[in-house]
Amino acid sequence: MKASAPGKIILFGEHAVVYGRPALAIPVTQVHADVEISESSRAGIWIHASAIGLHAELNSLPSDHPLAAVIRKFFPRPNTFPSPLLRDPLPRGEGGIEIKITSTIPVASGLGSGAAVSVAMIRALSSMVHRPLSDDQVSAMAYEIEKLHHGTPSGIDNTVVTYAKPVYFIKGQPIEILKVGKPFTIVIGDTGISAPTKESVADVRKLWEADKTKWEKVFDEVGEIAKKAKEKIESGRWEELGELMNQNHVLLKEMTVSSPELDKLVSAARKAGALGAKMSGGGRGGNMIALVTPDMAEAVARSMKEAGAKNTIVTNVS
Ligand code: MEV
Repeated sequence: MKASAPGKIILFGEHAVVYGRPALAIPVTQVHADVEISESSRAGIWIHASAIGLHAELNSLPSDHPLAAVIRKFFPRPNTFPSPLLRDPLPRGEGGIEIKITSTIPVASGLGSGAAVSVAMIRALSSMVHRPLSDDQVSAMAYEIEKLHHGTPSGIDNTVVTYAKPVYFIKGQPIEILKVGKPFTIVIGDTGISAPTKESVADVRKLWEADKTKWEKVFDEVGEIAKKAKEKIESGRWEELGELMNQNHVLLKEMTVSSPELDKLVSAARKAGALGAKMSGGGRGGNMIALVTPDMAEAVARSMKEAGAKNTIVTNVS
């Protein structure tokens, strides 16, 4: 049993989306999380995630461990193999399973690695127990796990990773697939600094709690930018879309979630001819994005590398 899920990047509206404002995100298929499940002769449910040095049996993990929590949705009682959810018995009685998780998505970088691992796990496990799930069910289950990763998630990460389509997202509302008028190109630049979303989301909440009037206004401004961005994407007005990215970046800086390294990559991208640039995701590290014309992509990526980007990805959105 194998399943895979892509990374994601937020184009507009991060953080404000947690407070009910719209946000836009796209899948990033150049990076992905992969899960492979095989039956084995040794008893138990074994999880292998070499990238984080994890080789453990399910029952040795705490119940709030995100990987254990995903698996327990399919194997709710300890030492239950085959799963009670299984419709038809597996061809073998004793023994257990080995779950191998690999991912090319850098952890805590704003590329949705947690959501992608959850979605790939849910899909692999559901096919293993012969219980196909709809995208809505996969996304809802992954959302439960996102709460363990970062407390008060909006749900945008699990949504875009599950549907693997550009989305216009408002918390609690049915997903809207973005209609992309004309394809456009984004360069993603990684600061190489890992920064847990949980912390920046919690810090923005502290700001909001201390002065709700002020921050509600800032979130409103971000929401307006996201709405306008949707129109520009539908009509293919790239110059204006780039300007909206710059405006969104200013507001993210105000929320204290940018960092000197992100700002440096953002200004390098703009100087090299990007139509606009901003940090993306939780911030404080992780990734930023630049909107470019296809002929500028390479030059912008090069300048971002010279300004300290550890990695760049050019992605076309259509
Ligand atoms: C994380 O990818 C985006 C944030 O807005 C958090 C969330 O929406 O859950 C920072």
